[in-house]
Amino acid sequence: MEKMWAGRFQKALDKKADDFNSSIRFDCRMYAQDIQGSIAHAAMLAKQGILTVADKELITDGLLGILEDLNGGKLAFDENAEDIHMFIESELTKRIGDAGKRLHTARSRNDQVAVDIRLYLRDEAKTVVDLLKDLIKTVVDKAEETADVIAPAYTHLQRAQPIAFGHQLMAYAEMFLRDIKRVDNAVANMNESPLGSCALAGTTYPTDREFTAKALGFNNPTYNSIDGVSDRDFCVELLSAFALIMTHLSRFSEEIILWSSWEFKFVELDDSYTTGSSIMPQKKNPDMAELVRGKTGRVYGDLIATLTMLKGLPLAYNKDMQEDKESIFDALDTVKMCLEVFAPMVATMKVLKENTYRSAQKGFINATDLADYLTKKGMPFRTAYKTVGQLVAECIEKNTVLDDLPLADYKKHSELFTEDLYEEISLETCVGKRNSFGGASSDSVRMQVKAMRERI
Ligand code: ARG
Repeated sequence: MEKMWAGRFQKALDKKADDFNSSIRFDCRMYAQDIQGSIAHAAMLAKQGILTVADKELITDGLLGILEDLNGGKLAFDENAEDIHMFIESELTKRIGDAGKRLHTARSRNDQVAVDIRLYLRDEAKTVVDLLKDLIKTVVDKAEETADVIAPAYTHLQRAQPIAFGHQLMAYAEMFLRDIKRVDNAVANMNESPLGSCALAGTTYPTDREFTAKALGFNNPTYNSIDGVSDRDFCVELLSAFALIMTHLSRFSEEIILWSSWEFKFVELDDSYTTGSSIMPQKKNPDMAELVRGKTGRVYGDLIATLTMLKGLPLAYNKDMQEDKESIFDALDTVKMCLEVFAPMVATMKVLKENTYRSAQKGFINATDLADYLTKKGMPFRTAYKTVGQLVAECIEKNTVLDDLPLADYKKHSELFTEDLYEEISLETCVGKRNSFGGASSDSVRMQVKAMRERI
C-alpha cells in the first residue's frame, strides 16, 4: 500500500521496517474514538468555513459508515496500514474521494493520537471504577457475613490479637475505595483536549479548539500545543493507579492463599475458582489468587516501561511514544481481568469459623488484654506488661494457656488478679470490647460496613 507521505520519498519502506513501524495491530482498538474525534474535527472545520458543509456531510456519513462496518465485522483492519489513523483516513478516501483527503486539514496524527488515547482511556477507566465498586460491594457483604466470626490477626505473621474476621476484609475495602479515587483523579487530570495542537505548533487556520473540546466532552483545550502532543502523564498516572490496584489485589491474594492452606484452613474457596493437580489427587489449588499475584509484576512492568520510555524524550512528539499504547492497554486488560475474577472468588469463598476460632484460642493472643486488665486495676501498663510476660513464660513451661492457668498461680504474680480475669480475657470479650472507632469488634465492623455502603 502506498504511504500517505510517499511524495517525498524515492523508495518504498523496507518490509521488515514497515512491520516494525506499524501500530495497527494494537491501536486498532481505538477505532471508535478515532472516528469520534474526526467527526468533531470535521464539524469544527465546517463551522469555521475551512471545509464546505457538503464535504463535512460526506465525511461524517462516510465515517459513520466505516464505524458501522467495523462494528458489524463487515470491514477488517488492514494489517499493512501504518496505524489506525491512516487506515480510517484511507478507507474514507476510498469511499468518498477528495472530501476524505480534506479531513486532515489543520490537524496532525500527533494531536489525533493524543485525543484518541484520552477518549479511549476515559471510557475504560469508568469500567475499572465500576469493577472496583463491584469488588467493594462483594467484600463488604462478606465482611457483614463474618462480623461475628472470631479470628486471630497477625503482625510479623505471628498471632497478635483476636479480631472479628470481617475487620480485615474491611481493610481491603478501604484500599479499593482509595483506588477508585486515584483512577477518578487520573481521569480528571487527563480531561483536556489536545485536538488542534496539530503537529506541535498549532495552525494558521482559524480553528475553534473550544468547540472540539466541548464536542468531545473535554473540560477545555490544552493551553500549550507542544504539551498537548507531548504529554503522556495521564498514562503514567493511570498506570500507577493500576499498579497500586494490583498491589492490593496481590496482598489480598497472598492472604487467601495462606488462609486456604491446610495449615490455616480459615477459608474454603469454591470449586469454580480452584484447580486440581495433574498428579496429586488431594489438591485443590488457589490458582486464581496466585495468578492475580503473579500478574501484578507485569502491571508494574508496564508502569516502569512507560516512565522509562518518556524520561529521555525531547519535546515534542517522538515515535518512542507509540510504545505508550501496548503498556497501558496491557495494564488495563490485566487489571480488568483480575478484578472480574477476584470479586466472584471472594463472594463464593466460605469462611470456616470453627477453625478461625480455634486458631485464635492458641498463641496467647489475649495477653494484651490481660495486661490491660491489670492496668485498669491500677498497675502501670509497663509493669503489667512485664507481669503478663512472666505469666506467658510460665504457661509455656507448664504447657498450658492463660485461660486455663489456676487463679492461685495468678495470685503469686499479683494480688490484683481475681476470678473475673477469665471473663476479661475470653475471646468474646477481647473482640467484643474493641469498640474504639475503627476497631476490630463485631459492632465496629457493622459500623464500617454501613459507612462504606454510603461512601461508595
Ligand atoms: N501510531 C503513532 C503513535 O501511536 C501515531 C502518531 C504518529 N505520528 C507521527 N508523527 N509519526 O504514536
